[in-house]
Amino acid sequence: MTETLPTVMAAEMRVLDPLVSAQKLLALIEGAHKNGILELLAPGATIPAITTATKLEAGVVAAIVDALVVGGVAENDNETFHLTKDWQAVCGPIGVRPLPATLHGERVGAELLRHVGTGDDYWSVSTDDRVALAASLSPDPIQGSLVPTLPAQAAAGEPLPAAASTANRYLELGCGVAGMTLSLLQAFPQLTVVGVELSDDLADEAERRAEVLGLRDRFTVVRSDAADFDDEEPFDLGFWSQFFFAEHTRAGALRTLFDNIRPGGLVAAPIVHPIGGEPDAVLRRISLLRVSTQSWGVPDRTPEELVEEFQTAGLVDARAVGQGKRSMLVLANRP
Ligand SMILES: C[S@@+](CC[C@H](N)C(=O)[O-])C[C@H]1O[C@@H](n2cnc3c(N)ncnc32)[C@H](O)[C@@H]1O
Repeated sequence: MTETLPTVMAAEMRVLDPLVSAQKLLALIEGAHKNGILELLAPGATIPAITTATKLEAGVVAAIVDALVVGGVAENDNETFHLTKDWQAVCGPIGVRPLPATLHGERVGAELLRHVGTGDDYWSVSTDDRVALAASLSPDPIQGSLVPTLPAQAAAGEPLPAAASTANRYLELGCGVAGMTLSLLQAFPQLTVVGVELSDDLADEAERRAEVLGLRDRFTVVRSDAADFDDEEPFDLGFWSQFFFAEHTRAGALRTLFDNIRPGGLVAAPIVHPIGGEPDAVLRRISLLRVSTQSWGVPDRTPEELVEEFQTAGLVDARAVGQGKRSMLVLANRP
């Protein structure tokens, strides 16, 4: 088929323009958060009020607000502009993490995709960016929105909160900035955790957060490869962020779990592989994350493959749970 310039331009309008606009709108939202416009739009504000508060030029404010309206972020009621209901929710304090943390981490993730295949990866970005990326992948334990929901999740039999509500010693391999762990520690006061983390800067951030939350006495961070960790005292529960573990590190991490979890203890690992039926937005996110994880040498395990990997490591009763939910896990027990 011979394309003509008009058909190419029409195709650009259909497929390229929406993506370009979305990229720029996301950047504008980050800017509008930094200069305080989003905060002013939450309760609602007029252009003159935003101009006075931000000290930006009135024309610039009007253009920003107009772009936010056209982009579906804000709407107006006569002269007063405010965030739409969904954006009120996204910008508010109830989410699993503050919006700026999500935007910064996602920007780093996008930048890594731009460099995919060049050798630049998770380990070669700046400390600031690596911490931001890690923080955007887990709940913010200081904002703590997840914490009050965890006892109810435990009572409803959600596997990780349920196990954490009765365990005393919890081992997390690849604890990163410890978003989930520090949330669990706040919800379940009997719990103590040892987190093992390869990256020093993420370990620093995990310790800083624990300090802020007054949880240093129940949370220890060990800076090492998961394969090299060993403790004299066994753990009741193990958690393995397997979707960040490169192929060559996996057998060693599983050996550590086998050697350090008590007989009968539970081992859990999250899985991000699509199993069918996910909404388009979720499928797109998973497929883009997979580009990065594949480029870091992390295999894309199906639930069945992860079950088999657990069995090969000597763990028993391996099973996938939570299919189709936000948190799909593979569980197994130490024989
Ligand atoms: C997705 S993050 C964990 C997030 C954490 N669950 C949270 O809630 O914040 C996975 C972590 O595993 C770490 N990691 C990857 N390979 C590792 C290894 N061989 N030993 C120890 N940590 C490792 C990475 O540095 C990364 O921080």
